[in-house]
Amino acid sequence: MITRRGFLRFIGGSFLSVASFSAYAVGIEPMLLTHVKRYALTPPHWPAGLKLRVVALADIHACRPWMTPERIASLAEEANALQPDLIVLLGDYIAGIRLLSQRVTPPEWAGALSGLKAPLGVLSILGNHDWWADGFAQRAGVGPTIARKALEKVGIPVLENDVVRLEKDGHGVWIAGLADQLALLRKKKHERPRRLDDLDGTLAKISDAAPVILLAHEPDIFPKVPSRVSLTLAGHTHGGQVRLFGYSPIVPSQFGNRYAYGHVIENDRNLIVSGGLGFSNLPIRFGMRPEILQIDLG
Ligand SMILES: [Fe+2]
Repeated sequence: MITRRGFLRFIGGSFLSVASFSAYAVGIEPMLLTHVKRYALTPPHWPAGLKLRVVALADIHACRPWMTPERIASLAEEANALQPDLIVLLGDYIAGIRLLSQRVTPPEWAGALSGLKAPLGVLSILGNHDWWADGFAQRAGVGPTIARKALEKVGIPVLENDVVRLEKDGHGVWIAGLADQLALLRKKKHERPRRLDDLDGTLAKISDAAPVILLAHEPDIFPKVPSRVSLTLAGHTHGGQVRLFGYSPIVPSQFGNRYAYGHVIENDRNLIVSGGLGFSNLPIRFGMRPEILQIDLG
């Protein structure tokens, strides 16, 4: 027989467990447990003697109270402290959740990102939320989006189906950035968003044999990426935001868990998907701490 007091204790205990779980998943893990996720690899055909450290920030989703300009500025300082050769931003600066959070304006988040510093510079691409939040760009069907203008205003180039050639220690390296694969929302709900990425057109701009790093907000492009590309970097999935034992129940990808998170090697081609920093939809992270990527190539 369960006594009245036992029952009340059970209810109280359950309430406390739910409350502490919520505090952890909504507050502690998303905001306090940011870490540096490190990878070191030598992709196939990578030139001997080229050592390159790339630091990547993905899915910032600026909003109050979770991703304030102050927090973004301190993430930028953490990124700089890793002494990268190059810093890349993988899209989704703008928040998806509107009901629970307050807006951080593009000049505010871009201003915080302007603190990023690296010898080879800072390069960026845009994500779906950067397009979806821009009513004018949605109606026009073309950019430049507000996010692009904000980044350019602080001196961060935005690659949308474009490439940049960098040089380190006498070696060239190409950074190619795709336009977003889910950029334009359709009027009818069941229709997939219209894509603006042009992989072939982007890679056609590469004019010598130096290695290529591809920046693509959504990892779903990966099956189409040729082996000419040494490494593809993506974000967007947030690792599912909830991830247990290497499995994410909800992943915004048509490939489910295949590209949900981490280092994926398929047919000698390399993909790294960042778990990102912020969140869209539900303000919860569990088993998927916010991360700054550090990738050592060579
Ligand atoms: Fe995204």
